[in-house]
Amino acid sequence: MTGSYPNTRLRRTRATGWSRALHRETLVTPADLIWPMFVTEGSGVEEPISSLPGVSRWSVDGIVARAKEAVELGIPVVALFPNTQADRRSDDGAEAHNPDNLMCRAIRAIKDACGDDIGVLTDVALDPYTSHGQDGLLDDKGYVTNDDTVAVLVDQAINQAEAGADIIAPSDMMDGRIRAIRMALEMGGHHNIQIMSYAAKYASAFYGPFRDAVGSGGLLKGDKKSYQMDPANTDEALREVELDIAEGADSVMVKPGMPYLDIARRVKDAFGVPVFAYQVSGEYAMIEAAAAAGAGDREALVLETLLAFKRAGCSGVLTYHAPLAAKLLNG
Ligand code: PBG
Repeated sequence: MTGSYPNTRLRRTRATGWSRALHRETLVTPADLIWPMFVTEGSGVEEPISSLPGVSRWSVDGIVARAKEAVELGIPVVALFPNTQADRRSDDGAEAHNPDNLMCRAIRAIKDACGDDIGVLTDVALDPYTSHGQDGLLDDKGYVTNDDTVAVLVDQAINQAEAGADIIAPSDMMDGRIRAIRMALEMGGHHNIQIMSYAAKYASAFYGPFRDAVGSGGLLKGDKKSYQMDPANTDEALREVELDIAEGADSVMVKPGMPYLDIARRVKDAFGVPVFAYQVSGEYAMIEAAAAAGAGDREALVLETLLAFKRAGCSGVLTYHAPLAAKLLNG
């Protein structure tokens, strides 16, 4: 306690705009944003995603245009996810390590056009490439195997690194994959490629629209609970993060975002490492649905949620609202 009424009136500093600005503890800027985008085959193609109103898949030329837009808006990083053609999906997800796959073509095109004006973050997991929609390889019983999957994820990560990715972001939740990928990057001479580990990723009901966007939703049988975390757990998130840092992650992610702000705060307080949150597709869809229903103002909702992530200790946020938020923040 620092005082009591009426000597202390906390409303004094809230009374005017200039005073609120002076006392504001947390700031969001476009530099806090990572813009996730979906890539599709073809040229001049834009495919709206109905469960993510306002978000489209773009062919590589469109992705390059979006990346240039991100540079203009002051967004430092784009995150890429491919909608792999059906005939290139297989049980073993081999397309993930094809040097000419959609991801690699998008990475190279952005890097050719924008160079180091923007960072490219790439997702490591097999779900956009498997015919069963799981993030890893299945055994006879349909269980997602760990060590065999890690070997493929390493090939996928190196494939992305060689195409020019700046941040490798494993979202698969296999054990030991950060160490394996870090060792392979070091051995390949990629000393400055970052790893942002999806360290505390939960088996969440908020990923539905994303699975539509990458085309894995209709293929997925069962769930991902044998590798993604139980939403009930919080101490386990700290163990996941501790391991991933020890194995060579430069930064860690908590996912989903808003329902898991307690996890972001605990991770930040416990380890002091850069923490990012993914405001996932279902969260985006909720805000859009609220705005469409007249239940809230879209722009105010978006900015308030982003502020909440920063307040919880996040260095930045992956959000499909990144371009809108950056425009608002740039005035
Ligand atoms: C796949 C992956 C998912 C997301 C990012 N990478 C979906 C999943 O795990 O099923 C979700 C992102 C979102 O919902 O916006 N490994």
